[in-house]
Formats: sequence, C-alpha cells, structure tokens
Amino acid sequence: MTSLNDIRATFLGFFETNDHRVVDSSPLVPRNDPTLMFTNSGMVQFKNVFTGVEHRDYVRATTAQKCVRAGGKHNDLDNVGYTARHHTFFEMLGNFSFGDYFKEAAIPFAWDLITKEFGISKDRLLVTVYHTDDEAAQIWKTYAGLPDERIIRIPTSDNFWQMGPTGPCGPCTEIFYDHGDHIPGGPPGSPDEDGDRFIEIWNLVFMQYEQFEDGTRRELGAQSIDTGMGLERIGALLQGKHDNYDTDLMRALIEACAHATSSDPDGPGRIHHRVIADHLRSTSFLIADGVMPSNEGRGYVLRRIMRRAMRHAHLLGAKDPVMYRLVPALVMQMGQAYPELGRAQPLIEETLKLEESRFRETLDRGLRLLDEELAHLPDRADLPGAAAFKLYDTYGFPLDLTQDALRERGRAVDVAGFDAAMAEQKAKARAAWAGSGETADAALWFDIAERDGTTEFLGYDTETAEGQIRAIVLGGAEVPEASAGDSVLIVLNQTPFYAEAGGQVGDSGVLRTDTGVARITDTRKTAGVFIHVADVTEGRIATGTGAELRVNHDRRSAIRANHSATHLLHEALREALGEHVAQRGSLNAPDRLRFDFSHSKAMTPEELVRVEAEVNAFIRQNSKVETRIMTPDDARAIGAQALFGEKYGDEVRVVSMGEAPTGKGLNGRTWSIELCGGTHVRQTGDIGLFVTLGESASSAGVRRIEALTGQAAFDHLAGQDRKLAEVAAVLKARPEDAPDRVRALLDERKALQAEVADLRRKIALGGGSGAEGGEVPRTVNGVTFLAQVLDGVPGRDLPGLIDALKARVGSGAVLLISEADGKAAVAAGVTTDLTGRLSAVDIARAAVEALGGKGGGGRPDMAQGGAKSAENAAAAIAAAEAALKG
Ligand code: ALA
Repeated sequence: MTSLNDIRATFLGFFETNDHRVVDSSPLVPRNDPTLMFTNSGMVQFKNVFTGVEHRDYVRATTAQKCVRAGGKHNDLDNVGYTARHHTFFEMLGNFSFGDYFKEAAIPFAWDLITKEFGISKDRLLVTVYHTDDEAAQIWKTYAGLPDERIIRIPTSDNFWQMGPTGPCGPCTEIFYDHGDHIPGGPPGSPDEDGDRFIEIWNLVFMQYEQFEDGTRRELGAQSIDTGMGLERIGALLQGKHDNYDTDLMRALIEACAHATSSDPDGPGRIHHRVIADHLRSTSFLIADGVMPSNEGRGYVLRRIMRRAMRHAHLLGAKDPVMYRLVPALVMQMGQAYPELGRAQPLIEETLKLEESRFRETLDRGLRLLDEELAHLPDRADLPGAAAFKLYDTYGFPLDLTQDALRERGRAVDVAGFDAAMAEQKAKARAAWAGSGETADAALWFDIAERDGTTEFLGYDTETAEGQIRAIVLGGAEVPEASAGDSVLIVLNQTPFYAEAGGQVGDSGVLRTDTGVARITDTRKTAGVFIHVADVTEGRIATGTGAELRVNHDRRSAIRANHSATHLLHEALREALGEHVAQRGSLNAPDRLRFDFSHSKAMTPEELVRVEAEVNAFIRQNSKVETRIMTPDDARAIGAQALFGEKYGDEVRVVSMGEAPTGKGLNGRTWSIELCGGTHVRQTGDIGLFVTLGESASSAGVRRIEALTGQAAFDHLAGQDRKLAEVAAVLKARPEDAPDRVRALLDERKALQAEVADLRRKIALGGGSGAEGGEVPRTVNGVTFLAQVLDGVPGRDLPGLIDALKARVGSGAVLLISEADGKAAVAAGVTTDLTGRLSAVDIARAAVEALGGKGGGGRPDMAQGGAKSAENAAAAIAAAEAALKG
C-alpha cells in the first residue's frame, strides 16, 4: 500500500521534475494576511506573488501545505468526525505558476500525474469547468480525450475559487473520481451531487482576478495557476478506501487513541476516535505554529477544538487526560515531513495535558447541568440561551461544544438567547470597570479592546506579519487617519511587536501600508491592547487598512540574547551564591542587560568571574531553549523560578534552557527553568558571548549586575583589548608584561617621591649640598628668629622642615613660607623652652594675614595656615617679627 507519506513525496517529486521549486509549508497562522484566521489552502503563502506585490526567484512552485479550516468561510468543525471527508486539519498538495504556464500546461500536468504516476483509470475520471470556460473544456477534450459528457459546465461559485472575502481568485476546473454506481450520488451539478459516488479530488484554479473588500475585482497582471489536492482524499482513493479516516495515517492515530482508551476503534466509540484523531492533528500543528489556547481569537478556536476532542475522550470513558499521550504517534506519522512537530513536542504535550486536566474538572459538572436542563424541557425543544451561556461562563463550554453535545440528542441551542446573555455580561463588566477608578487614558484602551478585541501577539514565532489597523490615537483621541509628521499610537488586530513587560523593552520597527509609512519607536500594552508608539514618516495611514509590520531584527535579536542570558545569569548566581538569590528586577534592553537580585553583601571578584564563566559555558553548550505552558503549581513543582509575590494566571509560560547532570525539571537535567513571557533565542549559542560590566549595590540587600552579550560583549572586550595594546605600546612592553611594568613603575615612583622629599628638605635647610647654609637667623626682641621663603615645597612637607629648623636654632622661633601648587603655605614653630611666652599660632596668623589670607591654627610649638599667594613674603616676615615684638 502506498502510504500518505509516499503519496506526498510522489506529488512533490513529480512537479520538481517538471521544474517546480519545492517550497516548505508556511505556518498555519498566516503572516501575510490579517483577515485570514488560519492558512486554508496552498496559495496563501503566495498571495502577494499572485497579486504582483512580491517576487520570488522562481516562477513555478509545489508544496504540501498544512491547512486548518475551523472557522470563517471554510468552516468544517461541526461535521468533523461524523463524515468521511471533513477535517479541521488537512494537507493540501498543490502546484503553482506565477505568470508562467496557464491552463494549457496545468491541465496536462494534473492529468499526467493522476493517470500515469498515480495510475488512476481514465474511465473513472470526469471534470467540471466554469460554464464560460471553453478553453479549459477544449484542453480536457484534446489532451485528456474526455468525452463531452464528462466535461461538466458549472455556472455556480463551486467553480470559482476565492481564498476569502478578499485576495486572488478565479474560475476553476475540478477533477472528480467516480466510485461506481454501487454508491449513491449523482455527478457534479446534478440534484444529488452531494452523494458519495462522485468525489472531487483536485481543484485547478486559474488565477485571474484580485477581489477587494468593496466587492470590486481587478484583472491580475499575470495569469497564474493555483491547484489544491487534499492528501487525505487522494490517499483514500489510492489506498482503495472510501473514507479518509481509513487511510494509513489517520488509522494509525485512531488506533493509538483506541489503545490509550482501551476501546474498540471500530466499535460504538468509532466517531469519538475519529474526532480525536482529527483534532489531535489540528491542535498539535496549531501549537507548533505558536497558537496557545486562550479566550480570544485564534487561541479560542484552538481551545474549542481541544475541548471538543476532550469531550469525545470523555464519551469514550477516559478518566485521565488522553490527547497528550497520542502526540508521539502523531510525531511518528508526520514528524519527518513537518520537523516543527517534533521540535514542539514537549510544548504540545504540556499544553494538551494542562488543558485536559483543567477542563476535565468542569466537564462532568457541566454535562450534569446540561442533563438537568434538558430534563425540564419538552422533547426536542432548543436549549435556552441562558443555560448555554451558563455552561460557557461557569464551565468553559464553548457554544459549539454544547451544540455538539446536543446534536446527538437531536436538539439545538437558542443562539440568539446565548448572544444576548453574553452581551449583558459584557455590559456588566464594563459598568463594574467604570467604577473602579482607573484613569481616563485606560478607558480609551478598554473601549478599543471591547469594540475590536485584544491584540494577538505573533512575535514568539515571527518578526514580520501583516495586521489590520484597528485604531489610531492622536493627542489622546481616536482619529480615522494620520499623516506624515503626526506622532500617534496605533492598534492592530495582530502584531509581531513585543510590548514591554517583565523587564523586556518594547520592540521598535516599521509599519507600512499602501499609502504610508510609520516608524514604530516603542510598544506597550494595556487591557490586552498592544499600543504601537509611532511617528508617521511618509504619506498617511488609516484605520481599517492592512499594514505590513516589521520588527527591527537586529535590535530584537540583541534583546532576545540579553533576555536569555539573564536566565542563565540568574541560575549561575544561585549556584555560586546560594538558593537565597532571587530576581528583584531586570532590564533587557538591546544594548545591555541589568539584573537585580537579593544578596546581602558584595560579590567577590572570584565569584563574579565564576558566574561569568558558567554563563559562557552554557552559551557554548548551545542547547535548545524550550517553552511550555503549565499551571503555576506544576511549574513550581518542576523547579521553575518565579518572581516572588508576582500574581500569575491559571496558565504560565515556562522557559527552560541548559542541560546539567544535576539539573531539575521533568527530566532532572534542565539547568534553568523560569516563568517568563518574553522572547528568547532558539539555542543558547545564539547569545554568543556574555561579559559582566560590574557588580554593585542597588538597594539594601539587593545587588545589581550589568552585563553585555553578543556583539556588544565582543565590542566591549575588543575595546578593552585595544586599550591594553595602547598601554603596552606606551610602556614599550608586550601586553602580557604590562601589569608587571606598571607595578615596577609605581614602585619606582614611590622611591622617587621619597627621594624628592628628602632632597627638598635638604635644599630648604641648607642649599642642598649637605653643607650648612641658607638664611641666617637674627634676633628679634631677644629671641632667635629664622624665617625662610621656599619654592615648590607643599604645605604637608612644612612641619617636618619646621622641626629641623627648630633643632638648628636650638632656642627660638622659625617661619616658613612656601609657594607650591598655585598657593601659599605658611608654617611657624617655637621651641618648647619659649612656648610659655610665645605662640607659633600668633606668628603664623600674622604672616598669613600679611599674605592676604585668613586664620591659621595649631599648637604653641607648631602652627600652619595658607593664603592665595606668597607674593608679599617680605611683608609677612615683617609681620611675624612684629608679632614677636609683642
Ligand atoms: N486554492 C484552491 C483550493 O483551495 C486550489 O481549492
């Protein structure tokens, strides 16, 4: 039997041989179309190539594209599990021409692949064409040799394909397989076409138009081709099955489910297994592409799908979480074609387990409530909206889950009543909030959140995306548009820009629309609304239009490296200093990181070196950075570091990195585990390098480390190195000898200083030759008085000289005046035999005053003072003599 994996490979190989580029599937969250909830066909990633906005280096492509259809135009959720061919997740095989070949080649390619490669009998095939498309009909006739009765003209939208309300579109031709007259059903276009006999297997779209929001269309510059073949359908056909769920891949999942629930895959629980198999695929692939269960937007669709699967697991009698146990089977089946699945396996398992455990608690009670409600109702009556709302509000039952549960009992929900109850609750929440004293500014964001919903953050997975402008705020009020020169705040439905939180600064970058450009300088958030702080730099931007958003990549990469390094630093500090180390604050900016932590004393240089080395060792380890979602309790149980006193919701994001033999976590080998909502590197090696700039006190009991990573760290070290080289050059030494040379120089300097002081003293006392000399003492009022003016001897050296002079005179008074360092110093001394009647303080003061200074003080035997200049030294000596005279 040809497996689905083989069929996928055959398809891609066929087109590759025919000069098509094999392009990877794009993510399920479309980055190039904010109006589309999920990628719903192969052409989505090429939308802008079809319209001519974007050019690639190839004109032919082929893909196996992951698709989810669970909401919006192509909504399949309700039927899934009950029918043979409905899925929430499926793979679409396609080939594409961008202005290269058109119908004349697209039809032959399809025909050859189906009849030759896949070997499907021509007699089983028939096609439809758009009713006016004679050209396509003619090619089918001549190339495929199909008779007229098997080329059916369809006038309806069935043969006109549109991606969504806007975007590229065009007429199409579809290929059908006839399962034979033993199966009920009529050919396409006939009244009983919905039967199972004729099954569409391939849709070839002739891309000719672009559809706009206002309903108008334009002809595309180049005629292109977009085709789509559901892998599950063609797989069923080639495997001789009538039901997609009987293909090898789906069967493997169904059997894994049957095994996990110890039930018969084909028994009474058959539908449940099918629902679970399908939903396992959509939920796992959505989580792998960055969608997380939530109560809004894509996250809510994911939650609805998960909970629907969980109810079916419950119906199978499963008492414990089941879905997460099926992930390995899925990875086994599809992990090779889609490696992202394997990479995200822990995240998928944790997320499913968490959602299952939590939902299980309320599921029983909710279903009991539903039974009670139904018991009061007349047969087949609709469930009142209020009851459905209670199930939603109290038990977390999405409306479609309630509908699904009722479907088995032939009942429906009063949806209008449900909507009314929902509206009433929102009004109450609003009233309660209005009285809560929040600022008027917050009111604006609350209004926007209420009106347009919150912003979906795509930035864990991408740095570029398209979004729709929901609001523009200028000068505190909403405006419909803004023009060049305006500083505004912009809100979009989705964004790759990270809004400042948890120490990580907001992203900056560029927003572009068809009519203008805005530079985004910062991103913040309030009430779930992401606020892009922007300056409109060109043209004008308006609400309601699509915008291309591009995060400044270099800046974000640097922030990411700093944030991941902070986690490594935190753990390294705990290891070096002890378990008491806890985060007290942090900053993850593009140019540096700052980490404040509890620790009561300064770190020693050795500790700092050890921490730095350890962080770098984990960087070089280059282990994968993993993200999971779990309850705060589970996160703590595996050793996650959390901010003390911080309030967390029901679910936390857990970021782990590094492997260590004595680590923690589920495997006991994870080094760092933290609760964190920030963006991180993929591998620790992406941090590059970590350098601390220093450690200091931040506040009582809190220390602070500032550090650099990546390019900034390298630049810092290179700068240090250059300075060392410069120092070495000045020293005329090799850099490694520089410290010894500097030490030697300092020793030499000290010795020289001592020598200089000694020489000065000698000069002052006697001319420097060692011989007696200098000033001659005279006698004033019967006292020997020696006064001397010096040059360049600092005041601190004068007392020593005074002592020496006193010794020289034996009995008497001495005075020194010296000009050094731009000021004058005065010192006076009196030998002890005379201190009874003379005071050095009086002599010093008299001299200082004569120099124009003030004060002076000391003891009777030794006093000092200062003045601005020693210009009037002669007058000062005279004043001292006068003082001696009394
Ligand atoms: N885009 C086309 C489809 O989805 C091929 O059917």
